[in-house]
Amino acid sequence: MVTVNGNTKLLGIFGDPVAHSLSPAMQNAALSVAGINAVYLPFHVHPEQLKSAVESIRTLNLVGVNVTVPHKVTILPFLDRIDSDAALIGAVNTVVNYNGILTGFNTDAPGFLASLRHDLQFDPQGKKAVLLGAGGACRAALTALARHGVAEILIANRTKQKAEILAEEMLLHFPTIRFTASGLVESDLADFLSHADLLVNTSSIGLAGESFPAFILKRMQADAVVYDMVYARESTSLLKSARQRGLNSADGRGMLVAQGEAAFLKWFGVPPSKGVMGSEVI
Ligand code: ATR
Repeated sequence: MVTVNGNTKLLGIFGDPVAHSLSPAMQNAALSVAGINAVYLPFHVHPEQLKSAVESIRTLNLVGVNVTVPHKVTILPFLDRIDSDAALIGAVNTVVNYNGILTGFNTDAPGFLASLRHDLQFDPQGKKAVLLGAGGACRAALTALARHGVAEILIANRTKQKAEILAEEMLLHFPTIRFTASGLVESDLADFLSHADLLVNTSSIGLAGESFPAFILKRMQADAVVYDMVYARESTSLLKSARQRGLNSADGRGMLVAQGEAAFLKWFGVPPSKGVMGSEVI
């Protein structure tokens, strides 16, 4: 831990709830190793307090904050600038305070890409991907894949219409990518699954221990890889089934660490020491 003195800078995370967040442990460990005189605190911000909490970033001259559920979308109107990918995703998880000007970034998308590369040795260039879900996490995964050359994306969502709306919107931004939308129904998905290279769960299935529709993994080819953005201490049913089928797979731990490393780089202009944040997430 740093020794707090008159020059200590402050950062933190806004969330509701926030006590479960691993970011304070990750960021403070990295600050300590880097010898940066700053502390990172959890701030429990209720939705109706978000605007004044954002103003306090300027008032108290915080270096910046992370933003988590339920504020990632609602914070956008309170910021001065939004990075272009964060605007496309429609969600901000990192705010940087440059002399009172607050800029919103999304480091979940580069964090996802870094984890795909590092944990699964997967490069999206020219590949076919299936994304389960159509919310904010899907938009982050989709943007990361689209920016790095993916060829085809199928968005499969319980509410099919949400997948269709998202596919239409993203086609306008990425006209060279082939988008398809479907429900979570075997007859809609079977053909695409059988030649997909990557399956990503961006939905919250698995967070509360729910099982995945069994047909999804059965249909996938043997060299396809599976990424579950859900990070839970117990392996999710998707990852258990992927392992049983011998598919290369990873959970959202690598993404959690990589989004934190990317935020640290934005705040301090230097990357944190390798492995320090990861050792806080077990
Ligand atoms: P986030 O921003 O984290 O992506 P979200 O916008 O609330 O969160 O989206 C959650 C996603 O998980 C949605 O795609 C949701 O499907 P619906 O659009 O049909 O609601 C999906 N989801 C949540 N629980 C699910 C379940 N039990 N089965 C299937 N899909 C589920």
